[in-house]
Amino acid sequence: MQHLSFGLEDQVVIVTGGAGAIGVAICAGFAEAGARVAVVDLDEATAQAIADALPGRHIGLGCDLRNVATMGDLIARVEQGLGPADHLVNIAGVIKRTDDLFAVTEADWDLQHDVNIKALFFVSQAFARRLVEDGRDGSIVNYTSQGWMSGGFGGSVVYNAAKGAVTTLTRGMARSWAPHGIRVNAVAPGLVETPMLVTPDTTEEDLDALRASIPLKRLGQPEDHVGTTVFLTSRMAHYMTGATVNVSGGFLMY
Ligand SMILES: NC(=O)c1ccc[n+]([C@@H]2O[C@H](COP(=O)([O-])OP(=O)(O)OC[C@H]3O[C@@H](n4cnc5c(N)ncnc54)[C@H](O)[C@@H]3O)[C@@H](O)[C@H]2O)c1
Repeated sequence: MQHLSFGLEDQVVIVTGGAGAIGVAICAGFAEAGARVAVVDLDEATAQAIADALPGRHIGLGCDLRNVATMGDLIARVEQGLGPADHLVNIAGVIKRTDDLFAVTEADWDLQHDVNIKALFFVSQAFARRLVEDGRDGSIVNYTSQGWMSGGFGGSVVYNAAKGAVTTLTRGMARSWAPHGIRVNAVAPGLVETPMLVTPDTTEEDLDALRASIPLKRLGQPEDHVGTTVFLTSRMAHYMTGATVNVSGGFLMY
């Protein structure tokens, strides 16, 4: 038996939020592992440009994942373009920071919960349904956040309530779909140097304070998440399901 091989050659991987800062790095990682990538994001032209820049055969698809009724169609579009999907990586996410919980609006709440948890569930449901129909194995990797455990900071409480739900849902989907050979795991990034964390208002002093709070003394970079994400989909992780893997430079330890 071969122990050390990703086994992802010619497998089809859907990456939602594939045009985002972390998503682009993850798409490149899967292409490097020999997989065919469906880059899914809000703007089709952007997603297609990212797919075109990868070595090999990949596609880009535009989709607002909040449109739950179109999830079956999205999975069918991937299948038409690349063949049946084997893995789904749910990276699409949004944050709307509000320091004062008294200032949180219903629209803020709905946006963050619709994208970060509701859309993630329904795209996973559509993906898993096709695997079950075909009797094929597969895997799902969900992006949560360190805040699933810490509760978040800097106005991210509502966002992290949704990320806590992602961690819980990961375990529930893992248990529910294990009998069908579908593994479900999560990646929990810490503080990653992307526009989601570093805004035009962020000062150098803020960044220094964030770096100082991390035992490895630097902010995470999108590329820091590639190995863990590719590994979790791969045959090397074939006995892992329901796990939330902490990729935070030691910011949190659990
Ligand atoms: N940056 C961080 O510090 C950090 C920390 C922990 C977790 N995360 C998580 O990692 C993931 C990626 O974060 P990032 O920093 O790359 O953010 P990003 O904003 O660069 O990427 C998010 C992507 O999701 C897409 N998206 C948003 N709403 C969508 C919708 N309705 N339909 C389809 N696509 C949609 C966006 O267009 C964007 O390309 C997110 O889930 C985020 O919550 C990030």
